[in-house]
Amino acid sequence: MRTSVMAAFLLGLFLFVSQPPSVPSRPTVNEAGASSKTVDYEQRRASSIQNQTQTAVHPNGTRQQLPQTIIIGVRKGGTRALIEMLSLHPGIAAAESEVHFFDWEDHFEKGLQWYASQMPFSYPHQITVEKTPAYFTSSNVPERIYKMNPATRLLLILRDPTERILSDYTQVFYNRRQKHKLYQHIETMLIKNGDINMDYKALNRSLYYIHMQNWLKYFPLSHIHVVDGNMLIKDPLPEMKRVEKFLNLSAQINASNFYFNKTKGFYCLRNHGRERCLHESKGRAHPQVASPILDKLYQFFHEPNRKFFQLIGRTFDWH
Ligand SMILES: *[C@@H]1O[C@H](CO)[C@@H](O)[C@H](O)[C@H]1NC(C)=O
Ligand SMILES: *[C@@H]1O[C@H](CO)[C@@H](O)[C@H](O)[C@H]1NC(C)=O
Ligand SMILES: *[C@@H]1O[C@H](CO)[C@@H](O)[C@H](O)[C@H]1NC(C)=O
Ligand SMILES: *[C@@H]1O[C@H](CO)[C@@H](O)[C@H](O)[C@H]1NC(C)=O
Ligand SMILES: *[C@@H]1O[C@H](CO)[C@@H](O)[C@H](O)[C@H]1NC(C)=O
Ligand SMILES: *[C@@H]1O[C@H](CO)[C@@H](O)[C@H](O)[C@H]1NC(C)=O
Repeated sequence: MRTSVMAAFLLGLFLFVSQPPSVPSRPTVNEAGASSKTVDYEQRRASSIQNQTQTAVHPNGTRQQLPQTIIIGVRKGGTRALIEMLSLHPGIAAAESEVHFFDWEDHFEKGLQWYASQMPFSYPHQITVEKTPAYFTSSNVPERIYKMNPATRLLLILRDPTERILSDYTQVFYNRRQKHKLYQHIETMLIKNGDINMDYKALNRSLYYIHMQNWLKYFPLSHIHVVDGNMLIKDPLPEMKRVEKFLNLSAQINASNFYFNKTKGFYCLRNHGRERCLHESKGRAHPQVASPILDKLYQFFHEPNRKFFQLIGRTFDWH
């Protein structure tokens, strides 16, 4: 008995460690849960990884385990709002800080056991969630998450790509100013020799289709739910209902969980009588950009946006 348990453990460990690092092995058709041998194997392997990495059950009935759902981005898309709103649901246990497990090599090298130890304590019926917005645009992350568990459900919150760039710039601007570092004006970053500057990283992050293609190499579209970040700010409830549905959560989040704060101009959250607004840094004013440059950006994003809509079979009301 003991030896067979040990053998199973070692086998699991072996399977995990011996996975060749660069062979994408996503089974082709499994949309309808068609049970090919590969899918069974992948799922057993994921379950075994889950069992080996979770911490011992605490006397209060909770333990730390690998996330079954990950909010992968996008940076400045509204990931903080999304995870806070999702936490309103009693079936969710959300990590408080951004873990950066799959995108930072020194974290990734610590292994899945370490990753699990960064997770909140959860009850068996709860879904563990973490958010790291940089995952979406990091090219080696999809494969790494897939290898942890191909059944992982992914949440991606996006907003108008031009708006996202302005917000991205604003964050960097405030960070640099705080550190008394130099910062360039946004127009200098956006335009080079009269043309859109493709080397500006914030611009690349808004080319959603490029990054999405990477994810779709490993995950079927049915495992990725795109949240409309513009709508989540304007009217959070319908977007959150869609997220509940995607995760097969019971319908628990309701209108009384949200109230509009006129001073802030944003929705705040109410949970069991406790009221909470997002951090001050959310919703900062964006820089002024000359309208010919803005128009140039809107124009520039038409084609990348169209490609993205085609990839996901859905359109958004962006510029
Ligand atoms: C993982 O643990 C669960 C519950 O204890 C068990 O049902 C399942 O068979 C285990 N999976 C593997 C692959 O050992
Ligand atoms: C259960 O115990 C853990 C570990 O001490 C603690 O972090 C967590 O908040 C506790 N959860 C509940 C619901 O008491
Ligand atoms: C944007 O980033 C992706 C992923 O990092 C990279 O493959 C691509 O070459 C970049 N595109 C441009 C136009 O810089
Ligand atoms: C939710 O349930 C449906 C239908 O049973 C299933 O196809 C889907 O994979 C489930 N999603 C999750 C996140 O478990
Ligand atoms: C909304 O959910 C809360 C629990 O989170 C519950 O107490 C309240 O009755 C619900 N309100 C409505 C209108 O369903
Ligand atoms: C509304 O927002 C203002 C400004 O951030 C804040 O000081 C105030 O506490 C908030 N009020 C409520 C009821 O959330």
